[in-house]
Amino acid sequence: MTAQTVKKVPLLRGKTIVNLFFEASTRTRTTFELAAKRLSADVLNINVTQSSAVKGETLLDTLRNLEAMHIDMFVVRHADSGAAHFIANNAAPHISVINAGDGRHSHPTQAMLDMFTIRRVKGPDFGRLRVAIVGDILHSRVARSQIHALNLLHTGEVRIVAPKTLIPVDAKSLGAHVFHDLHAGIRDVDVVIMLRLQRERMQGALLPSEYYELFGLTEEKLALASPDVTVMHPGPINRGVEMDSEVADGPRSVILEQVTHGIAVRMAVMSMAMRTTAGAQETEQRKEPLPGKGEAAE
Ligand code: NCD
Repeated sequence: MTAQTVKKVPLLRGKTIVNLFFEASTRTRTTFELAAKRLSADVLNINVTQSSAVKGETLLDTLRNLEAMHIDMFVVRHADSGAAHFIANNAAPHISVINAGDGRHSHPTQAMLDMFTIRRVKGPDFGRLRVAIVGDILHSRVARSQIHALNLLHTGEVRIVAPKTLIPVDAKSLGAHVFHDLHAGIRDVDVVIMLRLQRERMQGALLPSEYYELFGLTEEKLALASPDVTVMHPGPINRGVEMDSEVADGPRSVILEQVTHGIAVRMAVMSMAMRTTAGAQETEQRKEPLPGKGEAAE
């Protein structure tokens, strides 16, 4: 659909969507914006790091002001875990809220587009796949959502591969096998998902200085994986830190396909979310007895 000459469909015509980003983003914000435009919605981009929060306005005040402008949907990115949930709990019931990444907690649409990409490349049977997620698991909302999604899809084996300092203490309860050695971690895997070192979330030196040597993905190390291994990365890539350019731009990489799929997946999520809130509103309205109807039926 996103490659068609006429890219727009009228599903969300007349709706107003606000991209409410409290944290920097390029890919996620742009693909949400394109997705909304391709659904014919009106879109506002609000970069809160540069506006009201800086002047001391609370999150609730920002929300109330935007609600007063008759917004239909918020797409929220925030550095605090639980922020989108907080906004959903406090927004008027007719407003849909989509989480575009909250702290270290979750990034659901990223995981959905990643699953869509894996399915396109490997087919629908996740049960026969070994998938390794490599890198900064500790600070990664993407990893948490991916592990959740991979387990929902009954993936054969989910591995997380990182130095001890970048694995969360509750790693086992996430539903993945933990590896501290890249060679062992990617042996025979069908999909390798590399993650960025989230230096903005790190305090102090958490990393072994020889990170690239030990955990950076090179063609040589990739030879340990299955011969038709697929390489993924949610972006942005730190070339020469978590992976070599040869791998990132090589024939097994689907990193740019992930970006393209982000638009279609976000279009689907937005139209489904809007339909759900519209459906809930209709059900609410139907529950209200029509004036005079009760007496007439008796
Ligand atoms: C991720 C994010 O922001 O959570 N990127 C993205 O959404 N494409 C991962 C990252 O920043 O490393």
